[in-house]
Amino acid sequence: MPIITNIEDLRVLAQQRVPRMFYDYADSGSWTESTYRANEADFQPIKFRQRVAISMDNRSTRSTMIGQDVAMPVALAPVGLTGMQHADGEILAARAAKAFGVPFTLSTMSICSIEDVAAGTGNHPFWFQVYVIRDRGFIERLIERARAANCSALVLTLDLQIIGQRHKDLKNGLSAPPKLTLPNIINMMSKPRWGIGMLGTRRRGFGNIVGHVGGVEDMGSLSEWSSKQFDPTLNWNDVEWIKKRWGGKLILKGIQDPEDARLAVNAGADALIVSNHGGRQLDGAESSIRALPRIVEAVGKDIEIHMDGGVRSGQDVLKARALGARGVYIGRAFIYGLGAMGEAGVSKALEIIHKELDLTMAFCGRTDINTVDQSILLPGTYSP
Ligand code: FNR
Repeated sequence: MPIITNIEDLRVLAQQRVPRMFYDYADSGSWTESTYRANEADFQPIKFRQRVAISMDNRSTRSTMIGQDVAMPVALAPVGLTGMQHADGEILAARAAKAFGVPFTLSTMSICSIEDVAAGTGNHPFWFQVYVIRDRGFIERLIERARAANCSALVLTLDLQIIGQRHKDLKNGLSAPPKLTLPNIINMMSKPRWGIGMLGTRRRGFGNIVGHVGGVEDMGSLSEWSSKQFDPTLNWNDVEWIKKRWGGKLILKGIQDPEDARLAVNAGADALIVSNHGGRQLDGAESSIRALPRIVEAVGKDIEIHMDGGVRSGQDVLKARALGARGVYIGRAFIYGLGAMGEAGVSKALEIIHKELDLTMAFCGRTDINTVDQSILLPGTYSP
């Protein structure tokens, strides 16, 4: 087993172990992938102020997101097909998040169902992400299932009513369950532990959806199925309708523009996530870390602001927090951990990020994450 010291090590291991169709699904963005790359790259020019001779004893990264206690201000992002990165992936990731004390968000497009995750974590509360699909009755039932499963927040994704094209998925013929073509079988068999585990995963296809949406049992290719089911007419009236139906904490995901941020505030959400879907939708959109300060300036006093996109280290978490994000979400960083080593890999990803966050905060002269603000950053290296 190689020595794992950072998220990139987990990525390399995941690439070796996860069948190619599913590794590529995670490690890709839409079209030219310019936004996917910018999400990570745009953290780099932002610099910290190095402070010295300040006591660095008794440090704490504990904070809150939407009023819930978190061991550090990091949540696991909703990621579709997580159970195809590793058999039972959603349950394993939710367990690792529970043990660490951070929120886990289950995607509508998960392999394990809402009920599987609830049972697998001893009914520990998690967050549930909703996509607006055409069948509103189905959404109502999903919301009821999330409530019954003790979910403590609903994350409503607004940036995927139509789907950005990812070349690799089309070329690989991505589907869930994987189509048993000769190249797929050969690829699965060449990664025996992971491939066979995934083929034998106890749910065929999407756990939340199979048997619920108009008898969809055989889903064909993922993008074809999604184009048929996702609702291109999604608008702010739907947000209001879902808020009323749910009645609990609501987080709106996929906000990049200050005008939309104001509409999110008007919709009465508890938080918004500055996000471009990990560079998987609008190729050419600004990176999230660059969009963040403008959103904070526009509505930071009115709503809690979260962000995601390109977070691969505790340093990234600290920069986002300094620029006004109450919390950040990690997508690929935990997915690589899961693909590399299952539940232990997700725990490893969280430990790595926590350690980096804790030490970097100290190097900046702070011992409590809740005192971190823009003053830890070097003026001129970030855009207000
Ligand atoms: C996602 N994302 C996503 N978002 C969502 O609301 N529902 C979903 O089902 C998915 N599925 C999904 C699959 C994969 C493979 C990835 C990589 C991402 C977006 C996700 O929640 C988050 O916005 C990004 O992953 C954040 O960027 P990083 O951390 O992956 O760079």
